[in-house]
Amino acid sequence: MIQLTVNGQRYSLDIDDDTPLLWAVRDAIGLKGSKFGCGAGLCGACTMHLNGQPIRSCITPVSTAVDNEVTTIEGITPAEGLSPVQQAWVELNVPQCGYCQSGQIMSATALLASNPAPSDAEIDQAMSGNLCRCGTYPRIRAAIHKASAYANDGQTTATTATTATTATTATTATTALYTELRQEASHD
Ligand code: FES
Ligand code: FES
Repeated sequence: MIQLTVNGQRYSLDIDDDTPLLWAVRDAIGLKGSKFGCGAGLCGACTMHLNGQPIRSCITPVSTAVDNEVTTIEGITPAEGLSPVQQAWVELNVPQCGYCQSGQIMSATALLASNPAPSDAEIDQAMSGNLCRCGTYPRIRAAIHKASAYANDGQTTATTATTATTATTATTATTALYTELRQEASHD
């Protein structure tokens, strides 16, 4: 039995020690937001956090995660609203097909946690392991700057930046859109 903590929840999984973490999370636990792309640590589609650091879960044995904290795209979404990164992603309409975006958001979230105001060069460096076949890189970079501005304003979510009436409308619309995007992205 493997004991795993994912998004703050404990799981006992009857799987082999060398099972890739991605399959433990997707198949054994059922969280489908993290994607399989290359399976070789090259594309970033499977990016999760291990103790806050971005990792490629397709090449990380599940045994590595025992006694550590795993966070997936499902775990960074606040109970109400969106994280600053998610909000910026929606406002700038970053995703195209959406397949890579879970991994992109996880890498961007880790970047901003360690560097709240990254330069273009620092963004490019930090995001270089996340490939996007649709070429959304300019919007990803812009959204990271926008999320940085939200976070540095001291807001817990970007939604609080807008005024009352506008905020309600925008929050409803963007939450619906993001939910739709996540549902699309969660399909196998
Ligand atoms: S699927 Fe893990 S890096 Fe490509
Ligand atoms: S949005 Fe299609 S692969 Fe990135």
